[in-house]
Amino acid sequence: MGLLEGRRAVVTGGGSGIGRATCLRFAAEGAGVAVLDIDGDSAQATAKEVDGFGAAVDVTDAEALRVAVDAAAVQLGGVSILVNNAGGSTMVGLADWDPEEWDRIVRLNLTGVFNGMRAGVPHLLAGGGGAVVNTASISATRPSAGETPYSAAKAGVIALTASAALEYGPVIRVNAVAPGMIRTNLTRPLLEIVPDADAHYARMTPAARVGEPEDVADVMVFLCSDLARFITGQTIVVDGGMTLHGAGVDGLFDRFFRGGHPHQR
Ligand SMILES: NC(=O)c1ccc[n+]([C@@H]2O[C@H](COP(=O)([O-])OP(=O)(O)OC[C@H]3O[C@@H](n4cnc5c(N)ncnc54)[C@H](O)[C@@H]3O)[C@@H](O)[C@H]2O)c1
Repeated sequence: MGLLEGRRAVVTGGGSGIGRATCLRFAAEGAGVAVLDIDGDSAQATAKEVDGFGAAVDVTDAEALRVAVDAAAVQLGGVSILVNNAGGSTMVGLADWDPEEWDRIVRLNLTGVFNGMRAGVPHLLAGGGGAVVNTASISATRPSAGETPYSAAKAGVIALTASAALEYGPVIRVNAVAPGMIRTNLTRPLLEIVPDADAHYARMTPAARVGEPEDVADVMVFLCSDLARFITGQTIVVDGGMTLHGAGVDGLFDRFFRGGHPHQR
């Protein structure tokens, strides 16, 4: 019997990286899965892998996300797990952020989580409860230069998570994960520009390697399962111990991004 047998999970950003790995692990543990992603093709591809439901939706569009989560609930027969995982950013100096781009990063990483909770929580309540996991980042718990809107938004996710846990306990548990350096499409450009990136991160990380999406997905499974029944309002750092040393992207902004993104020069 799987850890999530009979659960019904909605995962945003499920088309790639940590979200996709989470969908696969959820399905392997017995959950029905709905994959939501702004990239409809990748949402459908992951949905096919888990024999689930896939839909294209932008988490920054509150109404579209509500409609997509409602549709997922119909397909799954309810929602008992919600993972607000869509997110991302790049690196720019604080005063150089274009204000519209600042807004976009905050809308994606923070408002997108609020939109997901607003859309999903009524379904969890209607079904008698469940678990929410929001994807924060070590950029919130241990910020670096060049990441101001992302760090601020992810720190907002941690606060939102704690506040929601207080609001919805004991019916819904609400936690967050804060991934470290995980090998996904988001971090590929960084891993490409850092010389000998794998060896560098192996040296900087007590676990002696770059993280893989499954390292975070397994924590998602734990937090959504009954094994975590007494855990709510928490943010679990999943970084192989890297932030004991630093943030993993320390110094990158000064070396590679100050004066423009390397791909834009
Ligand atoms: N990879 C890391 O090292 C790392 C570290 C800390 C936090 N995170 C966080 O983990 C989460 C997943 O990132 P990942 O590394 O798997 O990256 P990824 O790029 O592989 O996956 C992100 C997914 O989100 C989707 N997405 C982007 N904008 C969206 C939107 N507006 N609406 C719906 N979907 C959208 C993308 O299409 C993509 O499928 C993000 O919140 C990211 O900030 C990642």
